Amino acid sequence: MRTQVAIVGAGPSGLLLGALLHKAGISAVIVEQRSADYVLGRIRAGVLEQTTVELLERAGVAERLHRDGLPHGGIELAFEGRLHRIDFKALTGKHVTVYGQTEVTRDLMDARTAAGLVTVYDAENVSVHGFDGNAPRVRFRKAGIEHEIACDFIAGCDGYHGVTRASVPAGAITGFEKVYPFGWLGVLADVPPVRDELVYANHERGFALCSQRSRTRSRYYLQCALDDQVERWTDAAFWDELRRRLPDEVAQGVTTGPAIEKSIAPLRSFVAEPMRFGRLFLAGDAAHIVPPTGAKGLNLAASDVGYLAEGLTEFYLDKRTAGIEAYSARCLGRIWKAERFSWWFTSLMHRFPETGAFGRKMQQAELEYLVGSAAGSRSLAENYVGLPMQQVVPG
Ligand code: FAD
Ligand code: DHB
Repeated sequence: MRTQVAIVGAGPSGLLLGALLHKAGISAVIVEQRSADYVLGRIRAGVLEQTTVELLERAGVAERLHRDGLPHGGIELAFEGRLHRIDFKALTGKHVTVYGQTEVTRDLMDARTAAGLVTVYDAENVSVHGFDGNAPRVRFRKAGIEHEIACDFIAGCDGYHGVTRASVPAGAITGFEKVYPFGWLGVLADVPPVRDELVYANHERGFALCSQRSRTRSRYYLQCALDDQVERWTDAAFWDELRRRLPDEVAQGVTTGPAIEKSIAPLRSFVAEPMRFGRLFLAGDAAHIVPPTGAKGLNLAASDVGYLAEGLTEFYLDKRTAGIEAYSARCLGRIWKAERFSWWFTSLMHRFPETGAFGRKMQQAELEYLVGSAAGSRSLAENYVGLPMQQVVPG
């Protein structure tokens, strides 16, 4: 098999890259180790920046997003029993769109099928070769048969635990990492959301987040211990703990119901530098992880592949290599800004066992500053809605 770009991983970054390349007339094959149903079953992000929506429009997969996505012009911050709105529209003129990662993935998968493009699911033993020379190849086994794809470039879109970053020689790559001493317990339930907008709550007992997928489906998160286990949380225990962490006026409005999904995710900040090794490019979670508090993971994955698609299009259509040479620096400029914001918002909203009473007071003082000053509110709003892509391109 031969293709121009071999993409490893069919998560949002691999699928969106495939769609953008197809629009530019560049051929690509996606190799994914799991089944399509498994990929669709992962409940993850829910907030899209305007930049991500524009990339999905460019890829021709934004019709359902425009119909069913919920535009949100602000968020609410809860602390000390009170609720404060941050008005994105007034502060930045922009909004975010609430539309689940599962739906983005489904739209991209459907468009791929409709265009007759090849995605190999259930690929075993995926490996990458030759990217430091001129003959990159991706190998895998499927149904007991060995396959090889020869290509011009490999895109590593295979997430944090993938094979592509692990295949780079150790001396050529540097990782920067912070692991947080807690996780998030998430619940998805078919109940109406408690508020029209998302509520981020700082509470003595730990962080809580009220999010949503639609007017009838809610997504809630609770900060939990790293060694906590989903099985220990009955639905009733989850709803009780959620209500304890919210101001009374919000808690009283929570509609409870059976959880249709419950999972625990650890929190981590991670960046790998650089993101290009000869003819291999890393994109999305394969190159970086943010703690989910700032809702940036999926948005960064989208902007990475936006830059990569642009660079590869320039290469094939104009015979220019400037875009692919600038890929890593362009992405990293944007990534470190999102890393800073995600780390800061995580530090502000969670209970850190080691910081004690002084740390709590500092969080309260900073939250008061944020909601009480135009500069503080604007900074939060600008970072949350996301920076436009061209603003972060160096040179
Ligand atoms: P992924 O979605 O991880 O996709 C990578 C794909 O590559 C997967 O389908 C995987 O099966 C495949 N793969 C892996 N290894 C191989 C291999 N060797 N060969 C072939 N294929 C391979 N972000 C938010 O903004 N908000 C959230 O609430 C949120 N919650 C999250 C919860 C969890 C548990 C995780 C892990 C992430 C969460 N994120 C969240 C982050 C967000 O979901 C990711 O940033 C986003 O999924 C990144 O997309 P991706 O395509 O780069 O990686
Ligand atoms: C969701 C997840 C987040 O991490 C976040 O900051 C906001 C919303 C969500 O899953 O809806």
